[in-house]
Amino acid sequence: MAQQTSGRDGFATRLGVLAATLGSAVGLGNIWKFPALTGQNGGATFLLVYIIATLLVGLPVMISEIMLGRKAKANAVRTYRELGPKGQPWSLIGISGVIAAVLIMGFYTDVAGWVFAYIFKAMSGSIATTDPAVAKEAFVALVGSPTQSLMWQWIVLALVSAIILGGVSSGIERTTKILMPVLLLLLCVVCARSLTLPKAAEGLAFLFTPDFSKITGGVILMALGLAFFKLSIGMGTMTTYGSYFRDDQNIPVTAARVMLCDLSISILAGVAIFPAVFNFGFEPSAGPSLLFMTIPAVFASMPGGQLFTVIFFCLTAIAATGAMLSLFEVPVAWLVEEFKMSRAKATIGTALVLGVMGAPATLSMSVLGDFKMFGLNMFDLYDFVSSNILLPVGGIFICIFAGWVWGSKRTRELLSNGGHLDNAAVVSGFLFVVKWVSPVLVTIVLLNGLKLF
Ligand code: TRP
Repeated sequence: MAQQTSGRDGFATRLGVLAATLGSAVGLGNIWKFPALTGQNGGATFLLVYIIATLLVGLPVMISEIMLGRKAKANAVRTYRELGPKGQPWSLIGISGVIAAVLIMGFYTDVAGWVFAYIFKAMSGSIATTDPAVAKEAFVALVGSPTQSLMWQWIVLALVSAIILGGVSSGIERTTKILMPVLLLLLCVVCARSLTLPKAAEGLAFLFTPDFSKITGGVILMALGLAFFKLSIGMGTMTTYGSYFRDDQNIPVTAARVMLCDLSISILAGVAIFPAVFNFGFEPSAGPSLLFMTIPAVFASMPGGQLFTVIFFCLTAIAATGAMLSLFEVPVAWLVEEFKMSRAKATIGTALVLGVMGAPATLSMSVLGDFKMFGLNMFDLYDFVSSNILLPVGGIFICIFAGWVWGSKRTRELLSNGGHLDNAAVVSGFLFVVKWVSPVLVTIVLLNGLKLF
């Protein structure tokens, strides 16, 4: 990040902006969550609803957040407080974002811990199997052990805190930027191997042939929640990123590129995983364990597989770390800027809260397995409340804010960079969607998915 004239840190180049925004978006959401949810919710049908949600809701919310953040040049809480009419509680969008960030980190650090553990398991060769029963056993041995899974989660938390404390996050971001293309390349290798497996066609059919009988209110809400989670929107992360955007950056085009790259990586992960699922006889609906069983199986069936498995989990760990930094930063920035806390105190405080909050999610795979609220264990509850409630509700208010409070005239001004860009038609389309389509759609999906009507 280089200094801009305003004195606030900002992204130096346009490519840098794109890469940094992608660094937050790409993570376990693509490689772990997308395949898990797609497998559990009927494959192609889910993918289709997810793509529609990304286009009609994800992209407009992302453009809104970046636009408002760039205008206010402030953290999310302050952005909505300062840009909104005095005395109205718009800063609640930012507060809800802090809560969402803590909940997401509560289970994200757990899964990231599994990824780190799998690097070592891959090195020892203990997960190199194409047999579903053996693969399952290795996974359960890890997540079912309270001490092991907690230990890995806390290692991840300590690592992320150390990166933030050491002020080396820009270094990590740079590393992420370089390694992301390598991950993409490796994903293509997995796809190539997966697609040449004897029963690959079954997996592709699952991923690309929709069956509309599988669509329910719950499935649609799940796909919408994933769209928010994937693009890191609905809670102020992108608002904060927007505050680092250059004034001459073309926001709609950048947001569209991020969305397309992110979607492509998710689909690649799907193409890597589902042919193998059907070929080796895994359960497509295995959920959280899907990634951890299929990827080692694909590599186990090719020469040099062990080395590839190690590299794959290393790269996934790095992508997850990039995403975690952007999540961790939300409560830290809030504590520092609103309560004048030192960065060190805010970081350690956040890590302690996350350590305590994350433990019930992690232990819900073992000793707390039977402890449920609203029929969900703690892991699923954190995920559900953040992705399927807080982010969409945040999204509704962000759309209302951008479309109605900030309004057409000022939006045209901001998105055309003060008239420098010739994109009136694009902005008109955006305004229509953000005013009339996204908020209405999200409200209906939310109420219906929660069975409130
Ligand atoms: N988008 C990231 C992923 O797919 C996760 C993430 C990072 C996130 N920052 C976020 C999700 C902010 C919601 C909000 O892995």
